Amino acid sequence: MPSAATAEFVRREAARILAQNRRTGHATWNDRDYAYVVPSPNSYPFQWFWDSCFHAIALTHVNLDWAREELTTLLHGAQPNGFIPHQLLWEKDRHPEAAARQSEKFGDRYTSSSIQPPVLAVALERVYRATGDDAFLARCLPPTIAFYRWLAANRDPDSDGLIAIIQPDESGVDASPKFDPLMRYPKDNRELVAWIDWLYGQYQPLRFDDAAILALDLFQVEETITNVFYILGLEALARLTSGAPPSGSPALSAEFSGWAARVQAALIAKCWDESAGAFFDLAGNDERPLRVRTISSLAPLALPTLDRAIVDRLAAHLRDPATFAARYPVPSVALNEPTYMPGDARGFIWRGPSWINSNWLIAEGLRVHGLADLRATITDATCAMVERSGFREYYHPDTAEGFGSRDHSWSTIVVDMLDGPVG
Ligand code: GLC
Repeated sequence: MPSAATAEFVRREAARILAQNRRTGHATWNDRDYAYVVPSPNSYPFQWFWDSCFHAIALTHVNLDWAREELTTLLHGAQPNGFIPHQLLWEKDRHPEAAARQSEKFGDRYTSSSIQPPVLAVALERVYRATGDDAFLARCLPPTIAFYRWLAANRDPDSDGLIAIIQPDESGVDASPKFDPLMRYPKDNRELVAWIDWLYGQYQPLRFDDAAILALDLFQVEETITNVFYILGLEALARLTSGAPPSGSPALSAEFSGWAARVQAALIAKCWDESAGAFFDLAGNDERPLRVRTISSLAPLALPTLDRAIVDRLAAHLRDPATFAARYPVPSVALNEPTYMPGDARGFIWRGPSWINSNWLIAEGLRVHGLADLRATITDATCAMVERSGFREYYHPDTAEGFGSRDHSWSTIVVDMLDGPVG
């Protein structure tokens, strides 16, 4: 683990950045107050779904009111049908340039039509445990549950339990090379964005009809990180509803447990590749495995009831200098993949660098499976990245050089790796 001085520096800077990046106000477009943290002041000046969930977890270490407000503001995006968009453009009119850069050109004026990995119930449980606030839980549970029900009803066309994404950014690991075969192998980020524009053009006549969009089978991926958070979220809902009314109900809690177990069984039966010792996403109606070893291949480590034999295979990658044991882990693509690209990435993101939000997910897995030595190694290296380069969007796995946006808010979740869950 890091020295006391390093840990203190990381905690202090994390609190400073979360305060600096917090935005509050009143939006006339939906007549709501907002109070949330932008992912980064210049590059990402709006509210992003999974970023906000990570911010809320980080905020449990900094300011409990802010943690509650982060999720409350995210839930202002909940639609009557249960859907929650991956972007809420609260201060859009103040940031015309950033708004023009968004690849999502498909939703309503201030909201997107995409999802992001469903971290919501995990974050809700963390904020509830940290605050013990029953009224907050009672307010947040119904829209949170509605969102998981929306996912099941709209994103699982083959009813196997696994949910599907309809465009690469929905995965949160946007330009990951695992998607290349579906996108005509883009040479650089410009080609990738042009391909997404083409995809939205195809989707346009079917706007908001996700079942019809999935039936086109142009980009349909049962994606691992998405499904890992789906399972973790359902398990969190099972615990959150296990108590007394009004939030609790034994029947509801049993439903969520059974639902989570069914999705996990499907993930293992369909996505686990025994010979590679890795999980792979499935593409298309015919469920073709996308056999590139990326951070999502290891993400199921975070599932508390994963078989020990699989846990050990995944942990072996984290110890293997040929694949994921970089000096500053965990690389987003295995070091020996031909598509590993940590330096000049041609505008691509998620093609090799280490990211702190995915380090947190891996560290959670190492925590629940009792792999304390590996967890300490990753936490230590993550703190060293921050000490060397500040809170950046992502880092070079050999040198800890920082890239992408500066003062990147979700990187502050390193405080949760340092200090463990609150409450
Ligand atoms: C990038 C990431 C995405 C994140 C967004 C805001 O697009 O790939 O996961 O939500 O930035 O930080």
